[in-house]
Amino acid sequence: MKPISLTRYLIQEQHAGRINADLRLLIEVVARACKSISIAIGKGALGGVLGDAGTGNIQGEAQKKLDVLSNDILLEANAWGGHLAGLASEEMDHSQPIPDAFQRGNYLLLFDPLDGSSNIDVNISVGTIFSVLRCPDGVTAPGDEHFLQPGTAQVCAGYTTYGPSTQLVLTVGHGTHVFTMDREVGSFMLTQRDVQIPADTREFAVNMSNQRFWETPMQRYVGDLLAGREGPRGKDFNMRWVASMVADVHRIITRGGIFSYPLDAKCRDKGGKLRLMYEANPMAFIIEQAGGAASTGRQRMLEVQPSGLHQRVPVFLGSRNEVAEAVRYHQQFDSNG
Ligand code: AHG
Ligand code: MN
Ligand code: MN
Repeated sequence: MKPISLTRYLIQEQHAGRINADLRLLIEVVARACKSISIAIGKGALGGVLGDAGTGNIQGEAQKKLDVLSNDILLEANAWGGHLAGLASEEMDHSQPIPDAFQRGNYLLLFDPLDGSSNIDVNISVGTIFSVLRCPDGVTAPGDEHFLQPGTAQVCAGYTTYGPSTQLVLTVGHGTHVFTMDREVGSFMLTQRDVQIPADTREFAVNMSNQRFWETPMQRYVGDLLAGREGPRGKDFNMRWVASMVADVHRIITRGGIFSYPLDAKCRDKGGKLRLMYEANPMAFIIEQAGGAASTGRQRMLEVQPSGLHQRVPVFLGSRNEVAEAVRYHQQFDSNG
């Protein structure tokens, strides 16, 4: 049977009363912007888009040309649709209300325009991550503080992965669904409905080069994974690390696993490496909707009360029994040392 398009899927969701017309339009616009980003990335060296932009973002990271281009594409596409009250991005110091010249809507959009940007120049998968919140009642020109809602308040989250094929993974709170871009037609087509992440796994994803900087519970947890069949876990584990969160999460969506970016001595002062509002929270929503789990190691990710737009957190997400194991090591350490 021919798969249905994203447009048709969204219309069906609207008719079923699960989303309204504004949210449908918002998702269509984000998907269209992601198609443009996918095309720019696909041109590679021929498009003159590789390399550094020569600028930095608020987090002190050097921006790639494609970080800036992807941000501009998402900003332009979402400014005039009438469905948003404001936007926030990894690449912008502060959120932006929709300009006065355009009609304002009821939603807030946060995004990581290009995730895994260290991988662009080596032709490895990168992606876009986004999260949608409601603008609080009575607020017409939202400021940063109006975006500081816990992940449970998200009404939609998604990511695209620009790999051998371009895929969009989406949730509006009724399961997680995978769409694949038909490059000839230019549409996202529903290729997997209701993804279910296996509860158990034998695969973990972490940057092992940080091992000596980790805190004790993480050292013990990964130590036991590495001990394999002879260790307390009684089974051998495989390791994968793409260093694009979207690609690592997409592997977990596809075949299970645990992804972790824990606290370490280098990022401790910042609270972690990955950003809560446009990396950890949207991924946590998508993973939970696919039957997985997401935690900081000490708290359910979606229940973290945010304190800043660019706040960082430790991340453990994926197969739910394995995430529970990682959490157990933290609990044990926190109560007994
Ligand atoms: P971004 O490119 O948006 O700044 O995010 C990069 C993140 C994430 O995609 C990935 O999991 C992690 O950084 C990679 O970290 P390492 O360089 O430590 O492997
Ligand atoms: Mn990122
Ligand atoms: Mn990024």
